[in-house]
Amino acid sequence: MLAGSASTGAETRLVHVLDYSIQPCQGCLSCLKNGSCCIRDGFQPLRDLLLESGGIVIGSPSYSGQPPAQLKAFLDRLTLLNLYTLPFWNKASAAATTSGFAPCGGMAKSLAPLFGRPVGRVSAVLGSVQSGLETLTREGYPGVYQRSYHLGIRLAGVIQSPPALRLPPHEYITISLLHRFYLRRQVADNPQMFAGVLDIWRQKSGASKRPS
Ligand SMILES: Cc1cc2nc3c(=O)[nH]c(=O)nc-3n(C[C@H](O)[C@H](O)[C@H](O)COP(=O)(O)O)c2cc1C
Repeated sequence: MLAGSASTGAETRLVHVLDYSIQPCQGCLSCLKNGSCCIRDGFQPLRDLLLESGGIVIGSPSYSGQPPAQLKAFLDRLTLLNLYTLPFWNKASAAATTSGFAPCGGMAKSLAPLFGRPVGRVSAVLGSVQSGLETLTREGYPGVYQRSYHLGIRLAGVIQSPPALRLPPHEYITISLLHRFYLRRQVADNPQMFAGVLDIWRQKSGASKRPS
Protein backbone atom coordinates (compact mmCIF):
# COMPACT_ATOMS: atom_id res chain seq x y z
CA MET A 1 0.00 0.00 0.00
CA LEU A 2 2.84 2.36 0.82
CA ALA A 3 4.44 1.61 -2.55
CA GLY A 4 1.13 2.30 -4.33
CA SER A 5 0.60 5.60 -2.51
CA ALA A 6 4.22 6.64 -3.11
CA SER A 7 3.81 5.96 -6.86
CA THR A 8 1.30 8.85 -6.96
CA GLY A 9 3.83 11.23 -5.40
CA ALA A 10 2.29 11.01 -1.93
CA GLU A 11 4.62 11.23 1.04
CA THR A 12 4.49 7.98 3.01
CA ARG A 13 5.90 6.83 6.31
CA LEU A 14 6.01 3.40 7.94
CA VAL A 15 5.61 3.54 11.71
CA HIS A 16 5.92 0.58 14.08
CA VAL A 17 3.76 0.83 17.17
CA LEU A 18 6.32 -1.29 19.04
CA ASP A 19 8.89 1.52 18.75
CA TYR A 20 6.68 3.74 20.92
CA SER A 21 6.59 1.45 24.01
CA ILE A 22 2.94 2.06 24.86
CA GLN A 23 1.61 0.93 28.23
CA PRO A 24 -1.90 -0.51 28.60
CA CYS A 25 -4.91 1.69 29.39
CA GLN A 26 -5.75 1.82 33.12
CA GLY A 27 -9.40 2.69 32.61
CA CYS A 28 -9.01 5.82 34.80
CA LEU A 29 -11.11 7.97 32.37
CA SER A 30 -8.77 10.93 32.92
CA CYS A 31 -8.63 11.42 29.13
CA LEU A 32 -12.29 12.44 29.24
CA LYS A 33 -11.65 14.86 32.10
CA ASN A 34 -8.34 16.33 30.89
CA GLY A 35 -8.56 15.93 27.12
CA SER A 36 -5.43 13.77 27.04
CA CYS A 37 -4.08 10.56 28.55
CA CYS A 38 -2.36 10.84 31.94
CA ILE A 39 0.25 8.13 31.20
CA ARG A 40 3.42 9.74 29.87
CA ASP A 41 4.96 7.41 27.28
CA GLY A 42 5.04 7.01 23.51
CA PHE A 43 1.25 7.14 23.13
CA GLN A 44 0.81 10.88 22.65
CA PRO A 45 3.66 11.31 20.13
CA LEU A 46 2.25 8.46 18.02
CA ARG A 47 -1.30 9.85 18.23
CA ASP A 48 -0.03 13.33 17.24
CA LEU A 49 1.88 11.87 14.30
CA LEU A 50 -1.22 10.08 13.01
CA LEU A 51 -3.30 13.23 13.41
CA GLU A 52 -0.84 15.14 11.22
CA SER A 53 -1.32 12.71 8.33
CA GLY A 54 -3.92 12.89 5.58
CA GLY A 55 -4.63 9.18 5.68
CA ILE A 56 -3.75 6.16 7.74
CA VAL A 57 -3.26 2.51 6.92
CA ILE A 58 -3.37 0.29 9.96
CA GLY A 59 -1.55 -2.98 9.50
CA SER A 60 -1.65 -5.89 11.92
CA PRO A 61 -0.89 -9.58 12.11
CA SER A 62 -3.52 -11.75 13.74
CA TYR A 63 -2.47 -13.10 17.12
CA SER A 64 -5.12 -15.45 18.47
CA GLY A 65 -7.55 -13.83 16.04
CA GLN A 66 -6.90 -10.34 17.49
CA PRO A 67 -4.37 -7.52 17.08
CA PRO A 68 -1.19 -8.19 19.11
CA ALA A 69 -1.02 -6.73 22.62
CA GLN A 70 1.28 -3.87 21.56
CA LEU A 71 -1.24 -2.57 19.03
CA LYS A 72 -4.21 -3.31 21.28
CA ALA A 73 -2.62 -1.16 24.01
CA PHE A 74 -2.48 1.77 21.58
CA LEU A 75 -6.06 1.22 20.40
CA ASP A 76 -7.35 1.04 23.98
CA ARG A 77 -5.56 4.27 24.90
CA LEU A 78 -7.16 6.03 21.91
CA THR A 79 -10.63 4.67 22.11
CA LEU A 80 -12.60 6.74 24.65
CA LEU A 81 -11.45 10.17 23.53
CA ASN A 82 -11.88 9.01 19.93
CA LEU A 83 -15.48 8.06 20.56
CA TYR A 84 -16.40 11.44 22.08
CA THR A 85 -14.25 13.80 20.00
CA LEU A 86 -13.83 11.97 16.63
CA PRO A 87 -10.34 13.35 15.84
CA PHE A 88 -9.91 11.08 12.82
CA TRP A 89 -13.38 11.76 11.42
CA ASN A 90 -12.23 13.33 8.15
CA LYS A 91 -9.19 11.21 7.39
CA ALA A 92 -9.09 8.50 4.76
CA SER A 93 -8.16 5.11 6.13
CA ALA A 94 -7.45 1.54 5.15
CA ALA A 95 -6.45 -1.65 6.91
CA ALA A 96 -4.19 -4.58 6.11
CA THR A 97 -4.12 -7.76 8.17
CA THR A 98 -2.19 -11.01 7.91
CA SER A 99 -2.66 -14.39 9.53
CA GLY A 100 -1.06 -17.80 9.39
CA PHE A 101 -4.10 -19.96 8.64
CA ALA A 102 -7.41 -18.46 9.80
CA PRO A 103 -9.20 -15.78 7.72
CA CYS A 104 -8.44 -12.30 9.08
CA GLY A 105 -10.74 -10.15 6.91
CA GLY A 106 -13.02 -9.46 9.88
CA MET A 107 -10.10 -7.96 11.75
CA ALA A 108 -9.29 -5.65 8.82
CA LYS A 109 -12.94 -4.64 8.65
CA SER A 110 -13.07 -3.66 12.30
CA LEU A 111 -9.66 -1.92 12.33
CA ALA A 112 -10.14 0.31 9.24
CA PRO A 113 -12.81 2.68 10.65
CA LEU A 114 -10.79 3.37 13.82
CA PHE A 115 -8.52 5.79 11.91
CA GLY A 116 -10.89 7.58 9.57
CA ARG A 117 -13.34 6.80 6.82
CA PRO A 118 -12.36 3.50 5.24
CA VAL A 119 -11.39 3.50 1.58
CA GLY A 120 -10.77 -0.25 1.58
CA ARG A 121 -8.97 -3.14 3.23
CA VAL A 122 -6.74 -6.08 2.37
CA SER A 123 -6.25 -9.28 4.32
CA ALA A 124 -3.82 -12.08 3.56
CA VAL A 125 -3.70 -15.64 4.85
CA LEU A 126 -0.04 -16.57 4.49
CA GLY A 127 -0.55 -20.32 4.88
CA SER A 128 2.12 -20.61 7.56
CA VAL A 129 3.53 -18.70 10.49
CA GLN A 130 6.07 -16.46 8.85
CA SER A 131 7.09 -12.85 8.66
CA GLY A 132 4.36 -10.83 6.96
CA LEU A 133 6.39 -7.80 5.91
CA GLU A 134 9.20 -9.94 4.51
CA THR A 135 7.01 -12.35 2.57
CA LEU A 136 4.28 -10.03 1.26
CA THR A 137 6.34 -9.12 -1.77
CA ARG A 138 5.32 -8.81 -5.39
CA GLU A 139 6.94 -12.22 -6.05
CA GLY A 140 5.76 -14.01 -2.90
CA TYR A 141 2.09 -13.03 -2.98
CA PRO A 142 1.39 -11.32 -6.32
CA GLY A 143 -2.40 -11.13 -5.84
CA VAL A 144 -2.20 -9.58 -2.38
CA TYR A 145 0.60 -7.28 -3.52
CA GLN A 146 -1.44 -6.01 -6.48
CA ARG A 147 -4.57 -5.43 -4.39
CA SER A 148 -2.57 -3.61 -1.73
CA TYR A 149 -0.71 -1.51 -4.30
CA HIS A 150 -3.96 -0.42 -5.97
CA LEU A 151 -5.59 0.33 -2.64
CA GLY A 152 -2.58 2.52 -1.81
CA ILE A 153 -3.14 4.44 -5.05
CA ARG A 154 -6.84 4.83 -4.25
CA LEU A 155 -6.14 6.00 -0.72
CA ALA A 156 -3.69 8.65 -1.95
CA GLY A 157 -6.25 9.74 -4.58
CA VAL A 158 -8.96 10.23 -1.95
CA ILE A 159 -6.56 12.25 0.23
CA GLN A 160 -5.34 14.43 -2.65
CA SER A 161 -8.80 15.18 -4.08
CA PRO A 162 -11.58 14.13 -1.74
CA PRO A 163 -14.77 13.20 -3.57
CA ALA A 164 -17.32 16.04 -3.41
CA LEU A 165 -19.77 13.80 -1.61
CA ARG A 166 -18.03 11.14 0.39
CA LEU A 167 -20.83 9.11 1.87
CA PRO A 168 -20.00 7.93 5.35
CA PRO A 169 -19.85 4.17 5.83
CA HIS A 170 -22.42 2.58 8.11
CA GLU A 171 -20.03 2.67 11.11
CA TYR A 172 -20.04 6.47 10.86
CA ILE A 173 -23.79 6.72 10.59
CA THR A 174 -24.06 4.61 13.75
CA ILE A 175 -21.58 6.90 15.56
CA SER A 176 -23.44 10.04 14.40
CA LEU A 177 -26.69 8.65 15.78
CA LEU A 178 -24.95 7.64 19.02
CA HIS A 179 -23.64 11.20 19.40
CA ARG A 180 -26.92 12.80 18.61
CA PHE A 181 -29.14 10.71 20.83
CA TYR A 182 -26.88 9.57 23.68
CA LEU A 183 -23.32 10.89 24.06
CA ARG A 184 -24.15 14.62 23.88
CA ARG A 185 -26.72 14.24 26.64
CA GLN A 186 -24.35 12.12 28.73
CA VAL A 187 -21.65 14.83 28.48
CA ALA A 188 -24.10 17.64 29.24
CA ASP A 189 -25.33 15.77 32.34
CA ASN A 190 -21.78 15.14 33.66
CA PRO A 191 -19.77 18.27 32.76
CA GLN A 192 -17.06 17.65 35.38
CA MET A 193 -16.36 14.11 34.28
CA PHE A 194 -16.26 15.21 30.62
CA ALA A 195 -14.48 18.57 31.07
CA GLY A 196 -11.74 17.61 28.56
CA VAL A 197 -14.29 16.47 25.98
CA LEU A 198 -16.23 19.73 26.40
CA ASP A 199 -13.03 21.76 25.87
CA ILE A 200 -12.27 19.90 22.65
CA TRP A 201 -15.86 20.37 21.42
CA ARG A 202 -15.63 24.13 22.18
CA GLN A 203 -12.27 24.42 20.39
CA LYS A 204 -13.71 22.63 17.37
CA SER A 205 -16.83 24.75 17.12
CA GLY A 206 -14.69 27.91 17.60
CA ALA A 207 -12.37 26.79 14.81
CA SER A 208 -15.23 26.05 12.45
CA LYS A 209 -16.68 29.55 13.06
CA ARG A 210 -13.33 31.31 12.54
CA PRO A 211 -12.93 32.85 9.06
CA SER A 212 -10.42 30.88 6.99
C1 LIG B 1 1.60 -15.45 19.09
C2 LIG B 1 1.05 -15.69 17.72
C3 LIG B 1 -0.30 -15.94 17.59
C4 LIG B 1 -0.84 -16.18 16.34
N1 LIG B 1 -2.18 -16.44 16.23
C5 LIG B 1 -2.69 -16.73 15.02
C6 LIG B 1 -4.07 -17.06 14.89
O1 LIG B 1 -4.83 -17.09 15.85
N2 LIG B 1 -4.53 -17.37 13.66
C7 LIG B 1 -3.73 -17.34 12.56
O2 LIG B 1 -4.21 -17.65 11.48
N3 LIG B 1 -2.42 -17.00 12.65
C8 LIG B 1 -1.88 -16.72 13.84
N4 LIG B 1 -0.56 -16.39 13.95
C9 LIG B 1 0.25 -16.22 12.73
C10 LIG B 1 0.45 -14.73 12.42
O3 LIG B 1 -0.78 -14.13 12.14
C11 LIG B 1 1.46 -14.57 11.26
O4 LIG B 1 2.69 -14.99 11.71
C12 LIG B 1 1.53 -13.13 10.85
O5 LIG B 1 0.37 -12.73 10.21
C13 LIG B 1 2.72 -12.85 9.96
O6 LIG B 1 3.08 -11.53 10.13
P1 LIG B 1 4.25 -11.06 11.14
O7 LIG B 1 5.54 -11.64 10.65
O8 LIG B 1 4.24 -9.60 11.05
O9 LIG B 1 3.91 -11.61 12.49
C14 LIG B 1 0.00 -16.16 15.19
C15 LIG B 1 1.37 -15.89 15.34
C16 LIG B 1 1.89 -15.65 16.57
C17 LIG B 1 3.37 -15.37 16.71
